[in-house]
Amino acid sequence: MTATKGLEGIVAATSSISSIIDGVLTYRGINIDELAEHASFEEVAYLLWYGKLPNRSELAKLQEQLDEYADVHASVIEGIKLYPKGANSMAALRTAISSLALYDESSNDMSLEANQLKAIKLQAQLPTIVAAFARIREGKEPVAPKKGVSIAHNFLYMLTGEEPADVAVKALDQALVLHADHELNASTFAARVTVATLSDIYSGVTSAIGALKGPLHGGANEAVMVMLEEIGSSDKVESYINNALANKVKIMGFGHRVYKNGDPRAKHLQKMSQELGKLTGNMELYEMSVKIEELVTGQKGLKPNVDFYSASVYTALRIPRDLFTPIFAISRVSGWSAHILEQYQDNRLIRPRADYVGPVSARYIPIDER
Ligand code: ACO
Repeated sequence: MTATKGLEGIVAATSSISSIIDGVLTYRGINIDELAEHASFEEVAYLLWYGKLPNRSELAKLQEQLDEYADVHASVIEGIKLYPKGANSMAALRTAISSLALYDESSNDMSLEANQLKAIKLQAQLPTIVAAFARIREGKEPVAPKKGVSIAHNFLYMLTGEEPADVAVKALDQALVLHADHELNASTFAARVTVATLSDIYSGVTSAIGALKGPLHGGANEAVMVMLEEIGSSDKVESYINNALANKVKIMGFGHRVYKNGDPRAKHLQKMSQELGKLTGNMELYEMSVKIEELVTGQKGLKPNVDFYSASVYTALRIPRDLFTPIFAISRVSGWSAHILEQYQDNRLIRPRADYVGPVSARYIPIDER
């Protein structure tokens, strides 16, 4: 038995949710480019869960359900108020999502209907939790979710307590579409491993949030912003990047395990970053990002991934840096829950083997002889 480091190239599950074939990403067979242009995030979530685009009445029913479940149990909000000042936003989200199970009587109901409804509840409540956390840490009361508006609209509204501009809603909605699912990425795999023990959906999503937090995965979008802030201005890009590459420092937001010729989601975020820069009258972050891309692609052949231009997009939307990865989770919970439902449908425990490289035939040594 020999191990493949990082399971590179290993096919570990069958799935009909999303595919990456020849560098093209599809959700249920529909090219991401088409969805980014035409679909709302709610349509995409429905597509991922039920395998088809919703008609008008199905979409209206989903909107009603999202409205119905967007309020989070008061005890979960009270719990967030007890988190320490300066708590890491992804650690806070992981804890709050885990605690949701305590207040859902159906958390261990394994019927398909119950699990489909829990997927909707999680989708509805995750934005409420992230916005509540963001306000509570600033000493403000959470803003109750609004009815009849999109998740993108509601999230921006709950964050600020003000009606968001249409352009901001549109940009966030498109970003949510682009992040919704991505085949067997690390967090989705974590979710599938967890629920393959027949543990509940809350456990699966909690595992996924833990995996998404790392800077090699979803945490990269925040790390990109840290880098942009460290660089500070366009004229410092070249020396910063040259120095980083010379010292073999990884440039956040570049490279991908599967895409070697570029991440198809990145171009949409780049366009959005440019448009928002023009609209806000501040092109600095966009221009810095383009310069970084030229240098990293030119010198290393590495292309930007989904996280790279997300950083300047979310900053233009005035979203605090440490909410970038929680926003990724707001979107990806649709994909995680779709994969969890799929795993339950044809489950087998996921239990690979390890290539043992430790000592053999070792003996127990009594404590006084060590
Ligand atoms: N900057 C500089 N060099 C890089 C980068 C990078 N961003 N990414 C890969 N490389 C180099 C590595 O140093 C390595 O070089 P070497 O062969 O000389 O040692 C080579 O490219 C292969 O890299 P690996 O890390 O082995 O590639 P792997 O497939 O394991 O990792 C990953 C993919 C984690 C995305 C990696 O490219 C990376 O760390 N990127 C930065 C973090 C990031 O943006 N993550 C978000 C990914 S998208 C997502 O999860 C939503």
